[in-house]
Amino acid sequence: MNFNKIKTNFFDVVIIGAGGAGMMASLELSKANLNVAVLSKVFPTRSHTVAAQGGISASLGNMSKDNWYWHMFDTIKGSDYLGDQNAIEFMCKKAPKLIYYLEHLGMPFDRNQNGTIYQRSFGGHTSNFGEKPIQRACSVADRTGHALLHTLFQHNILVKTNFFIEWICIDILKYEDKSIAGVIALNIKTGKINIFKSKITVLATGGAGRIWAASTNAFINTGDGLGMAARAGIPLQDMEFWQFHPTGIFGSGVLITEAARGEGGILINKNGEKFMKKYAPKMKDLAPRDFVSRSIDQEIKEGRGVGKNKDHIFLDLRHLGENKIKKKLPTILEIANKFANINAIKEPIPIIPTIHYQMGGIPTNINGEVINNYNSIKENIIPGIYAIGECACVSVHGANRLGTNSLLDLVVFGRKTANHIIKNIKNYNYKIIPKKKIIKIINKLKKIETNKNGENVFFLSNKIRKIMQNYCGVFRNKKILKKGIKKILKLEKKCQNIFLKDKSKLFNTTRVEILEIYNLLEVAKATIISAEAREESRGAHARQDFENRDDKNWLKHSLWFSKNNKIKYKPVNINTKFIKPFKPKQRIF
Ligand code: FUM
Repeated sequence: MNFNKIKTNFFDVVIIGAGGAGMMASLELSKANLNVAVLSKVFPTRSHTVAAQGGISASLGNMSKDNWYWHMFDTIKGSDYLGDQNAIEFMCKKAPKLIYYLEHLGMPFDRNQNGTIYQRSFGGHTSNFGEKPIQRACSVADRTGHALLHTLFQHNILVKTNFFIEWICIDILKYEDKSIAGVIALNIKTGKINIFKSKITVLATGGAGRIWAASTNAFINTGDGLGMAARAGIPLQDMEFWQFHPTGIFGSGVLITEAARGEGGILINKNGEKFMKKYAPKMKDLAPRDFVSRSIDQEIKEGRGVGKNKDHIFLDLRHLGENKIKKKLPTILEIANKFANINAIKEPIPIIPTIHYQMGGIPTNINGEVINNYNSIKENIIPGIYAIGECACVSVHGANRLGTNSLLDLVVFGRKTANHIIKNIKNYNYKIIPKKKIIKIINKLKKIETNKNGENVFFLSNKIRKIMQNYCGVFRNKKILKKGIKKILKLEKKCQNIFLKDKSKLFNTTRVEILEIYNLLEVAKATIISAEAREESRGAHARQDFENRDDKNWLKHSLWFSKNNKIKYKPVNINTKFIKPFKPKQRIF
């Protein structure tokens, strides 16, 4: 690292992360003539949104009658009633408008014969409040995220957004009154450190799926925004809720889109039995992900798994035929070939539920403003900072997200946040960043550079993943979680003494991995400590020692604080504007 001449850059808004949420926000802000910087660890079109396959949901009603409030109901039921109903109402109502906006930007959606946007089925999406599956997901074959990201990047280039590519943020910087004044970041290539002063900072860093060993997530998903927020005293909300995608490729974890089932693919066990009809008679293979993942697990537990060790399941696409597979699921054909060495036209795909998405994150209101309130839904806004996308918890996904609602979340709240900033930026100015804080950060970095011996970063990050996988997996209980917490806290101490072994043989990315490990740690602690505290089973959080949902005691959001590892709680927001809130009911599919 180069500690000489730390330059300070000034921008109206600094956005950290160039995925779907970050680039939707930057597009609107640049269009409004604000001076915007987007900092990204990778080239923008390599952000993890690119990996989203199956679609983006909106009640366009192109395939059959649909309504935004059916979409809203499905999302709330899918969330196991933990989602904030005001935010879900906002998202589902706005969805059609956002799809047409993307269409007009040139996003190449698949089409019906009559020219309207094609829509496919996805888990948990129904007509008439759960009556039967509905086709609601707008898609670009099985490359929807790829198309979205490229569309947004091209328009950002047109409006001259300033991209800082291959920069990693080290920490967010607070002014004395605790408002946020900007960030300090590292240029990965040159090792130079810069301060980015901004009137407003937006965290859009995506998820943290790499706290797990088996994950559909890119290796860049290390929870950088969450780590920085936690270190700045911001709580992390609902971190016990992590979604397992039912169909990661067995062995590598690479995603096989739910659209494969949306287009008619079926899960089968070793006897060739289509087992989902036993668990979800109405929705079958299109039940929500928490349901399907647990059903797969049950099949394996009861000895009906496939393979030498009967430890996975098959996803069968053969009956769809070559034409349909090639047209609707070309990427899946390629992935199955590359990562499972099979031809999905002729053979079933070996799959296993794999960590995919974090429902929790940095608490925000529907304007994207970061909030820090407990015991009440009254918003205590932290000035100068917003969060959007997977790193944020607004909360539209509650305890379990419906497939295709993630891309929707990115664009709806990315745009809403930008509009809120445009209206309110006049109330913000540049702030003085206390020198003490910068010196503290630099000293920490210098210590790593000059350490003569200590712990190896690769060993430590693998250890985090192992602990999380073994002690905080699909089924959890107090004894195992407590053991896991002990191990993570012990590991945290080791992470204070990382050293760069033989500098002559280092890639500059090793320094990046060191910065990332501090973020992984914060997310791992938040997850396992919140999971131990929640004594019920809800959505993706399945406790063997508390098997049922407990609305009386646990219909509330958790807020984990890094400073003392304590958890506070706040109520679910059910202040809807247009229709009556939905009351919790048993989830049957
Ligand atoms: O299965 C998928 O294509 C993933 C979509 C999502 O997570 O929303």
